[in-house]
This record gives sequence, C-alpha cells and structure tokens, in this order.
Amino acid sequence: MKYTFQPAEAANAVNHVGSYRRRLPVSIERMYENTLDWAHLPHLHESSFAEIRCLDSGAWGWRAEVGNVGFSNSLYSLIELKLDRQARRWITRNLAGPNEGAEIWTHVFVKGENMLDVVVDFYVPDVPPEAKEKVGLAFAKAYEQLYDEDVAMMVERQQQIDRRVEGFDRSEILVMGPANELALPALVTLSRRDFVVNQIADEWLAYAARCPHQMGPLIESPVVEGEVRCPWHGFTFNVRTGDCTSGAACQLTESPIVAVDDNGVLMLRWAGPQ
Ligand code: FES
Ligand SMILES: [Fe+2]
Repeated sequence: MKYTFQPAEAANAVNHVGSYRRRLPVSIERMYENTLDWAHLPHLHESSFAEIRCLDSGAWGWRAEVGNVGFSNSLYSLIELKLDRQARRWITRNLAGPNEGAEIWTHVFVKGENMLDVVVDFYVPDVPPEAKEKVGLAFAKAYEQLYDEDVAMMVERQQQIDRRVEGFDRSEILVMGPANELALPALVTLSRRDFVVNQIADEWLAYAARCPHQMGPLIESPVVEGEVRCPWHGFTFNVRTGDCTSGAACQLTESPIVAVDDNGVLMLRWAGPQ
C-alpha cells in the first residue's frame, strides 16, 4: 500500500470543524494507558474498527493501519497518534485513507485524582463552510461512542487494580447451593478472587473471571469450543487448561475445583493441601 499524504506540522485553524468535551471519572494514568493502547480498537470498539496492524509503537505513541467498519477491506486508514505528556495532549492524524489529512487534537485537564476533562478538536481539510457543522457533529457523535466504551473499560480496570490482592487463603470453601438452581454462567468469589462457574459439555468448571493481560471481564464472553475471548483486546483462553490460545505469553490464574456432593450441592475449593 502506498501513502502519498505528508502530514502537516500543525493543524490549520481553517480546517476546524468542531469539538467534543467531556468530564471523565478516570486518572491521567489510565487515560494515557488507554491512548497508547492501540490493540483495543477492533475489540472494545468493534462497531467502529474492523482490524488493526501496528507498524510502530512506543512511549511516543503509535502508527497503525486500521480497517474501518463500513468500508471495504482494501480501504484502510493509516493513523498516527503522538502523545505529548508535557503538553497533556495527543494528536491523531489520518495519514492516508478515508478522511486523509484529518487531525484530531485532544487536550486533557486534570480536575482531581480520578477526574479529567478532555477537549477534542477536529480538523478536516477541504470541507466547505456550509458543511462544517454537520461534519463536526458526525465526528463528535463518533467520539461520544468511543469515549462511552473507553470510560467503561478504564473505570472497571481501575476498580480491579484497587482491589487486587496478593496471595490467598487456600482453605476457603464456597458452598454455592443446589446445582440445578444455579443461573449460568455464575460469577462467584472465593478467597477474594472472582471466578466464572459454568457447565460445559456436562462438566462443571471454574475459571478466572479476569483476564491476565489487563484484567478484562471474561464473564462477558460465551464459551465457544472450550475457549473464551476477552472483550478488551481479544486474547483467547482455553477454560480447562487456562492456556492463552491467541499466542500471548500469559495464562489464566489458578482456578478452584468445582465439586458436587451427594445432595447435588455445588462447592468450590482449592486443590492440594489446604
Ligand atoms: S485485558 Fe487485554 S486481552 Fe484481556
Ligand atoms: Fe478507545
């Protein structure tokens, strides 16, 4: 694929078509993490992005080919995001493809430990004056949805980080009640860790409810052919072995054994010495 567009050094005010502002209940740390996290685009934002191929990435930002939902496969965007921490700002440039030449400037204002204001400005070249408002509103609408999805992920991730525990009590047992009354899949907590309990091909199983990558919610994924897919970055895991089946060097955390007693009551306990 050939790219001809040369990015401008700075957005031209003449191209400004609109803005989007929002207060977010997240820390600057989570916000930057999300900004640099190119890999979540086709998973968390699957209704906007079909796929992504990263060409380069680092603490400076990233550059990637992005397949846009609604466009044919041959129509990729070449996107570059550059983060400037000192200016609390990042600039996303469409270097090629649909909206070539567009620049999106995002400024962050820290309002509290877990409170930010973001101001997003959209610069799109060659939009006639009478069409600017419409184009600006379309960008703002798209960003509203992207931020809805991002905020949910960032808030949930922060909650999981805040309640993370090291080590655990292997003597704990959880009595879950009659197996035939359980709504499946069930989210349960044992030794202050969350697990999904489910019955798969007549076998009772418990597996970690949180992804080992960035603690995404595995309970949201159906089990398909013995695997779950994390909704945040698409890693897949074998729920029986815990192995990552999408190639990442990670594994589900140890899960407890599910036992059913003679009265059909389900229990969770840890294997080995208690
Ligand atoms: S949190 Fe990234 S794949 Fe699960
Ligand atoms: Fe996002």
